[in-house]
Amino acid sequence: NLKAVIFDLDGVITDTAEWHFLAWSELAKSIGIHINKEFNEELKGISRMESLERILDMGGIAHTFTEKEKVELAQRKNKYYVQLLTQMTPENIFPGIRKFLEELKKNHIKIGLASASKNAPSILDALQITEFFQVVVDPEKIAKGKPAPDIFLSAAEKLLVNPRNCVGIEDSIAGLQSIRYAGMFSIGVGTLDIMKEAGANLVLESTAELTLERLNGMFNIHAS
Ligand code: BG6
Ligand code: MG
Repeated sequence: NLKAVIFDLDGVITDTAEWHFLAWSELAKSIGIHINKEFNEELKGISRMESLERILDMGGIAHTFTEKEKVELAQRKNKYYVQLLTQMTPENIFPGIRKFLEELKKNHIKIGLASASKNAPSILDALQITEFFQVVVDPEKIAKGKPAPDIFLSAAEKLLVNPRNCVGIEDSIAGLQSIRYAGMFSIGVGTLDIMKEAGANLVLESTAELTLERLNGMFNIHAS
């Protein structure tokens, strides 16, 4: 049975997947690269430096920057991003998420966060939902990022729950792979085709559809 729900943050709890895209677009534009939404799907769930590498590779100019310059580019992107974050309030929580967190808490289902973002703790604070999370995995302590299972496994371990009793919720291709490799039941939030192709066990078009009853139902069918 279901004992823990482990959330991704960006694009699952709030619309920061879009804000990351805006900040990367701005940075990319300044060095003559255009990124589109399709390419952006590959950046979701991926760390800051790795995202930069992918963008530079796509633009065919990775070799023109030194490591130090790459760090500066990544810092500039984060500056744009943090600037956007200053507008964040609890109003920015996706539909149904707060209610779902309350429902999980009331039913003693453990709650964890498995986000690749170093900005995650400050975003949870701005959304005023930090109290719900028993565990927020620090991505800097995880050797291999998504799609490797490490970050979801680490959350489960810290929550003292067997991965088989966990549900992971993601909006990214890399993240859904990570949940699958971790041996957890996965929920993909987003476009049906993309989420199905990424291997989500259950696809929801909106976070408003997240309820414990629904999860328990799907989970028990899956487990039996
Ligand atoms: C992930 C996002 O959650 O965090 C990625 O999906 C982002 O788009 C990554 O690059 C790292 O975030 P940050 O805030 O540490 O730059
Ligand atoms: Mg995400």
